[in-house]
Amino acid sequence: MKRFNRILYGGDYNPNQWPREVWEEDMKMFRHAHINSATVNVFSWAKLQPSEEKYDFSELDDIIDMLSRENYEIVLATSTGALPAWMAKKYPEVERTDYEGRHHKFGHRHNACPNSPVFQKYSVRLAAKLAQRYGGNPHIKCWHINNEYGGECYCENCEKAFRVWLQKKYGTLEALNEAWNTEFWGHTIYDWDEIVLPNVLGDGMENGRTAFAGISLDYRRFNSDGILANYTAERDAIREFDQETLITTNLMGTYKGLDYFKWAKEMDIVSWDNYPGYNTPWSETAMCHDLMRGLKDAPFMLMEQTPSQQNWQNYNALKRPGQMRAQSYQTIAHGADTIQFFQLRRSVGACEKFHGAVIAHVGNENTRVFREVTQLGAELETLGDAVLGSRNEAQVGIVFDWDNYWALEYTSGPTIDLTYVKHIHEYYKYFYDRNIAVNMIPYDADFSQYKLVVAPVLYMVKEGMAQSLESFVENGGTLVTTYMSGIVGQSDNVHLGGYPGPLRKMAGVWVEEIDALAPELSNEVVMITGDTCRCNLVCDLMHLEGAESLGSYGEDFYQGMPAVTKNSYGKGHVYYIGTHLEEQGLSGILDQASEDAGVERVVPDGDGLEIVCRRSQKGRIYFVLNFKDQEKHMPASLCGKQDLLSGENVTEKTVLKKYDVYILQE
Ligand code: GLA
Ligand code: ZN
Repeated sequence: MKRFNRILYGGDYNPNQWPREVWEEDMKMFRHAHINSATVNVFSWAKLQPSEEKYDFSELDDIIDMLSRENYEIVLATSTGALPAWMAKKYPEVERTDYEGRHHKFGHRHNACPNSPVFQKYSVRLAAKLAQRYGGNPHIKCWHINNEYGGECYCENCEKAFRVWLQKKYGTLEALNEAWNTEFWGHTIYDWDEIVLPNVLGDGMENGRTAFAGISLDYRRFNSDGILANYTAERDAIREFDQETLITTNLMGTYKGLDYFKWAKEMDIVSWDNYPGYNTPWSETAMCHDLMRGLKDAPFMLMEQTPSQQNWQNYNALKRPGQMRAQSYQTIAHGADTIQFFQLRRSVGACEKFHGAVIAHVGNENTRVFREVTQLGAELETLGDAVLGSRNEAQVGIVFDWDNYWALEYTSGPTIDLTYVKHIHEYYKYFYDRNIAVNMIPYDADFSQYKLVVAPVLYMVKEGMAQSLESFVENGGTLVTTYMSGIVGQSDNVHLGGYPGPLRKMAGVWVEEIDALAPELSNEVVMITGDTCRCNLVCDLMHLEGAESLGSYGEDFYQGMPAVTKNSYGKGHVYYIGTHLEEQGLSGILDQASEDAGVERVVPDGDGLEIVCRRSQKGRIYFVLNFKDQEKHMPASLCGKQDLLSGENVTEKTVLKKYDVYILQE
């Protein structure tokens, strides 16, 4: 498969929304900004297929000709992310039925029923026609299928498809009834046709939770698979005509609805859209990048970011001077081979007219944003292919699992405040703050590649996982896991015999009860070092079964019971953190675990800076970024290395102001 030979720099471009004179101006201005790439045709289905019988590619031909003449790297979308109005009118089945059971009318986007035969037929046909027409164009460097797939549908077509999916999964109704624990409330199913989709009219609850996690989890898996089948159907249609070009679709970081690890197996390259809010911690953005890289353990594309402002958040702050540049380099540092914006020219109407763009409504080059885009474009040109294809390596793996995400957030009790991504991020942040590289890994990863595996809130332990974690630890690995782990299997039925179920033996503890602490309550953990820290949210009441206690509760009727433990198992260690610790307490425990595991920082110094390493054939490339308000000195360990952007060697005197970036070649 052909990969990129320069960093794609550009983004979503919708010349179809503008008169032709503007196209010429665009080309001139983009040349000035060193833009070399455009993502086109994202929402043009209605234009390409104005009626059921008619297709018209003339405008797209002109756009692609123009971009080809300008030697652009074209990302060609298939346009199936928004339905044409005629289709919704003639075939209402293409619209979705929502969680409340309401069948939708024409409007909005990203909302086709994945199991509508009409949608399937026409989306695949359009993809095929595009591939047939443009697949041979060497300027097309990537196919972009649909756009930001997501959401869910509860229509009759989906219901029928769900039953088929279930038959394939379970074979018999006995197996299904057992998995869903239908004896509870007498929900026994005697015929496949009795199964209904679990929206709020069925087993779903008003608050998005569920009476039966078994069916709801299967529905989520089915929905993710069904939408993925839309993707693979378009992909396969493209492959008939074009065997060479990469195919992707743009993902959304920790988006809950789709099992991206499963999706990534069907994608040639992962791409994603990064829209942090004004107050999103940089560590969280870094985590999302690492997750997107982790999906294929490979470099990815940044398909979208705004050059400055969003429109759809509550408070759409401007990016401060230098912020977009720093954010872009953070993206590259964590594994991106492209920097693409949404969008290249700010639209004139509809809900995104306040969304930032390379060209603002004033329509000229004389804006702060345009100048910043131009500067970055020039720098990326200087960087050339130095980082392309280079790899991020890590000694720490953090498990991220969509099944677990769904199950944890479906479950009723012990607390509604236990959300998945927040807790994963707390653990990630420890490593981020210390410049310890992390890979975000699936539940069935090869753990043996890591010194330290961290599996926070591993509520669901699926078949095979406990065994592979056990052999990882037996062979000398260090595992950290926490409260609300090892509780259920893949259908949300409890692993009987005491928590944390299949992790109990290696953790050397038995959790007898789990207390939930309301937001205004907390407890204390007294560490064996004498340090104390507050804890909250949940408190496991546990007994040692071989593990040693590293800290015990300071208050309440379980005062003195272990709260944090460490167990030696084979040649390795298991840390079990039984309560939600305050940051400094958690850090103390993770310091110990990291030391046990022999985990190294990217460089030994440089506290307060973000330092990330990608390894190319020519050696290591260090990205040094300052996201703090205070100035920082270049860490001594990196002095003497050459900055790829300025060509100069950095010294102890080199100072990084907020948003400054250095890219140092070993
Ligand atoms: C998403 C979409 C784009 C655009 C941006 C705006 O990422 O893919 O079409 O709507 O949001 O931020
Ligand atoms: Zn449907």
